[in-house]
Amino acid sequence: MTNAIFNKNAVLPIGLLSLALVLPSCGSSEYKKYADNQAKQVATILRDNGCMQCHDAAAELPFYGKFPVIGPTVKVDMVEGTRYVDFTSLLEALDNGKLVAEADLAKVEDVALSGTMPPSKYTAMHWGTSLDSDEKAVLLAWAKDIRKKNYATSTVAEEFVNEPVQPLPTAIPTDPAKVALGFDLYHDTRLSHDNTIACATCHGLETAGVDHKQYSEGIGGQFGGVNAPTVYNSALNILQFWDGRAADLKEQAAGPPLNPVEMGSLSFDDISAKLAADKDLNKRFLAVYPEGFNQSTITDAIAEFEKTLLTPSRFDKYLMGDKSAITAEEIAGYELFKENKCATCHTGVNLGGQSFEYMGIKGDYFDYRGTGLTDGDNGRFAVTQKEQDRHRFKTPTLRNVMLTPPYMHDGSIATVEEAIRIMHEFQIGKEITDVETKSIVAFLNTLTGEYNGKLLQ
Ligand code: HEC
Ligand code: HEC
Ligand code: HEC
Repeated sequence: MTNAIFNKNAVLPIGLLSLALVLPSCGSSEYKKYADNQAKQVATILRDNGCMQCHDAAAELPFYGKFPVIGPTVKVDMVEGTRYVDFTSLLEALDNGKLVAEADLAKVEDVALSGTMPPSKYTAMHWGTSLDSDEKAVLLAWAKDIRKKNYATSTVAEEFVNEPVQPLPTAIPTDPAKVALGFDLYHDTRLSHDNTIACATCHGLETAGVDHKQYSEGIGGQFGGVNAPTVYNSALNILQFWDGRAADLKEQAAGPPLNPVEMGSLSFDDISAKLAADKDLNKRFLAVYPEGFNQSTITDAIAEFEKTLLTPSRFDKYLMGDKSAITAEEIAGYELFKENKCATCHTGVNLGGQSFEYMGIKGDYFDYRGTGLTDGDNGRFAVTQKEQDRHRFKTPTLRNVMLTPPYMHDGSIATVEEAIRIMHEFQIGKEITDVETKSIVAFLNTLTGEYNGKLLQ
């Protein structure tokens, strides 16, 4: 696939570079052969326009990458391009009729709209690789179809079906008896070794599902190495934890009780014995889980409860068609949010939680932070052991973000304004004005939601 660009695109000699810049792009029509197959058309467009040259971690440097002047630039583009998005899994999904990831969809859509890809220095070298209007139309129609079929929420207003941000689902189906037990266990300190710490200690429901500390304080005053994300709406994330090491909430809930710096229990047998000694609780539990307390039933109940932690907000009302739910200033903030590419990562119903993104695409965030690298900074690498996943983190949700400082996986950013500035500098490569920051903050305010009919504080 890395050779695909050489099939049809003439690599012009350097001397012709200036000529190539003034020549109109002719575009490839290869994809037209697959008029009856949208996925094949999209895959062909991505392959024929050189996208994989800079968006595939396994791509090799082309021969001119060894040239003294342009060589280093090409290499930088390939590194930066792949940090921004690696299209290998997207192509695999397209080739095999699988569902395309929501963040990939948002990203392809974004460049089809902005027309910024491939970069002009590349199209200058590869005549005919800029996306022409037909190709852009194919990409946009495809993105719209996939979103409508797979990612649009059923309650969304007709005019917002194709928005990268979608309203929360009204509810996730749950078993009320399990939810009630899960609520109690979530608040039960007996899950910890010395009966001092519950899930709610670090993820208080009255404190927006976080502890407002840079690093959480666990049993015996010990501190972990990453910031605690909110539990609200976490059911909507594709995987759990910053590095995605848990597949779902049930698997996630098995972690903290035995984590030596969080709840420090020795085993689920120990926890189960303590819980079963509570006659009243045991009776209620057996009525729902006849097999009694064990790792599977305890974590099942907690996960079931967590699925109810959805926080519909004014922005959801707006997306569902209530025009008066948010102000003109807030709408302008949302438009700016999309314009500045925020929604290519903070996408979908949870404005995040759908992809693992490189932190510091446009600059070295860790250098800027100035404190040495920690294990927590490895991010997704800890799970995959792939070098390209180092410093990739699950994009955090922006729901209730006004209430959940400090920010980032390292909890090093104290205010939302600073988080917004950091995103512009290190993810987008853009300086942001105070007026623009205010506008985005106005939008983020609309994402503060309600739980059980009460606005989160
Ligand atoms: C010469 C290398 C190169 C080629 C070829 C290339 N890109 Fe990129 N791409 C980059 C770089 C570098 C970035 C980093 C962001 C920037 O410069 O704006 C990037 C960023 C992106 C982004 C994220 C930014 C955004 O606007 O959402 C997308 C999506 C993207 N490219 C898609 C594509 C597609 C689709 C193609 C093929 C039509 C393509 N790229 C071809 C180098 C390349
Ligand atoms: C000592 C504080 C502490 C306790 C106690 C604790 N957590 Fe966490 N929680 C964290 C931290 C820190 C993270 C992030 C860890 C990581 O990503 O590596 C986290 C992550 C999570 C996540 C993942 C959210 C996401 O978006 O990825 C969920 C869900 C969660 N905790 C639920 C629970 C449940 C349920 C319990 C009780 C069984 C619990 N936590 C106990 C601190 C705590
Ligand atoms: C390339 C993907 C990407 C883009 C584009 C992006 N973000 Fe982020 N955002 C992330 C990731 C990943 C993190 C977490 C980084 C970390 O923890 O080190 C994050 C963190 C944040 C946070 C902190 C949230 C928290 O709970 O810690 C805010 C606020 C935020 N982004 C807002 C924005 C805004 C506003 C934009 C548009 C200018 C934007 N982001 C663009 C990926 C992205």
